[in-house]
Amino acid sequence: MSSTLGTPPVWWQSGAIYQVYPRSFQDSNGDGIGDLQGIRSRLDYLVALGIDAIWISPFFPSPMADFGYDISDYCGVDPIFGTLGDFDRLIADAHERGVRVILDFVPNHTSDRHPWFAESCSGRSSPKRDWYIWRDPAPGGGPPNNWTSNFGGSAWEYDEMSGQYYYHAFLKAQPDLNWRNPQVRAAMMDALRFWLAHGVDGFRVDVIWHLIKDAEFRDNPPNPAYGPGQPDIARFLQVYSTDQPEVLDIIAQMRATLDEHGDKLLIGEIYLPVERLVAYYGPELSGVHLPFNFQLIHAPWNARGLDTLIETYERALPAGAWPNWVLSNHDQRRISTRVGAAQARVAAMLLLTLRGTPTIYYGDELGLEDAHIPPDAAQDPWEKNEPGLGLGRDPARTPMRWTSLPGAGFTEGVPWLPIGGRPEQNVADQMSDPDSMLHLYHRLLKLRRAHEALSLGKYESVVATGDILAYWRRNGEEGLMIVLNLGHKNTPIELGGVFSVLASTHPDSAEEAGPGIFVMRPDEGLLLKPR
Ligand code: GLC
Repeated sequence: MSSTLGTPPVWWQSGAIYQVYPRSFQDSNGDGIGDLQGIRSRLDYLVALGIDAIWISPFFPSPMADFGYDISDYCGVDPIFGTLGDFDRLIADAHERGVRVILDFVPNHTSDRHPWFAESCSGRSSPKRDWYIWRDPAPGGGPPNNWTSNFGGSAWEYDEMSGQYYYHAFLKAQPDLNWRNPQVRAAMMDALRFWLAHGVDGFRVDVIWHLIKDAEFRDNPPNPAYGPGQPDIARFLQVYSTDQPEVLDIIAQMRATLDEHGDKLLIGEIYLPVERLVAYYGPELSGVHLPFNFQLIHAPWNARGLDTLIETYERALPAGAWPNWVLSNHDQRRISTRVGAAQARVAAMLLLTLRGTPTIYYGDELGLEDAHIPPDAAQDPWEKNEPGLGLGRDPARTPMRWTSLPGAGFTEGVPWLPIGGRPEQNVADQMSDPDSMLHLYHRLLKLRRAHEALSLGKYESVVATGDILAYWRRNGEEGLMIVLNLGHKNTPIELGGVFSVLASTHPDSAEEAGPGIFVMRPDEGLLLKPR
């Protein structure tokens, strides 16, 4: 196994990743749905923003039951998004500009329209029967066990013809593959190789902690904290349906496949408590390079809580493991909606100054807010299956706002989801406003590139109280201090020396701070360099 962390550091350690949800980034043909050609036409925007890589959510052939996370061909491009030729042009243009391209790999399940599943359904003696998870009914009849679908209801679907059930952790249109079958593994490694041959720089692996299920299919235990208003999936603790130790062998196989092609990046989507999350770095770092760290998405937004969370995560990391941070993604409420516009600026400074690779969700750099989606406009299958609980993911998936014009510069047609956010949350207006969120992102990403203390340096917490979160980032001789006011009132802090203000969340900030008492304004964040 090649070492992941070397000197000099690899690109994905110092770099920032930008998530593109392709349906919503840029439409180039007026059908109201974004496409690959659209992404290609916006590469210069991304270069100017200062990101190093884009991760593109699925664009493969799909019936779109789960908007591309139900794949019917791992080695192609859905016509909605363009052609393989469009992809090749996109990656060539991205590479020419120094931007890496990371794909979404969805190995846990296929679409029910995938030819493999059609074959598997053809009967108990099908050569691909064992590619999926088929079980007999429980002894008294009914589903084999109590496992629940993440999108509501039983995770087992009965097949009249064979008298067996198949397992689907998500929609019944997303049957789970059987990763205990070596043929499945080989076929999926080939899918990775197909895209590696097209020059991709890495993969974000969908629900990687789901890949292996308990060999005995034992019932999951009830969740004592389950209560009204919670989704079905919360009724049981996912003890046997997810996070089985054998998954690490599969991940090591994926890593080995990537390592055949140089310094490719493997990211795992994992929603688990931190002590389990870090297990996915694998024995001797043979696992994913970056197990996505979603803690900032779920954390109560206060200084003391965040301070503890960061420290705990830093301490939990195995030796040599590289951290990472995420504020939003296509499955979660956007950061601006969760913490409000003023704290979203503080959050941006936090994301881009913590130790570890940041992932920016498209539109967050504008402070884009979740849209209100009326029930009859809902697209997300989860919302449709379990309506009224606020589970729907459409609000965070609305089109990128390029301009304040109708269609937002995203489409000439009717957008597949309404244009969300507020009018000023658009690229054109924010480009010409030096105080905008977009400029704050520009400044911070530029500083990350200019100062190795920020991109690669050590993290050192500073003792603080109340609403103040403060830390140093240090590399060699250089130290930078970040001070964030998570509260909404003036808060004095004591500065031990004189500092230059390299960046501030607030427009009219002083150029210098300290020594002595310095008053942090409400919702203010400062990036400071000792004089
Ligand atoms: C992941 C994706 C999500 C999808 C699910 C099933 O969590 O991020 O969008 O619905 O997997 O593939």
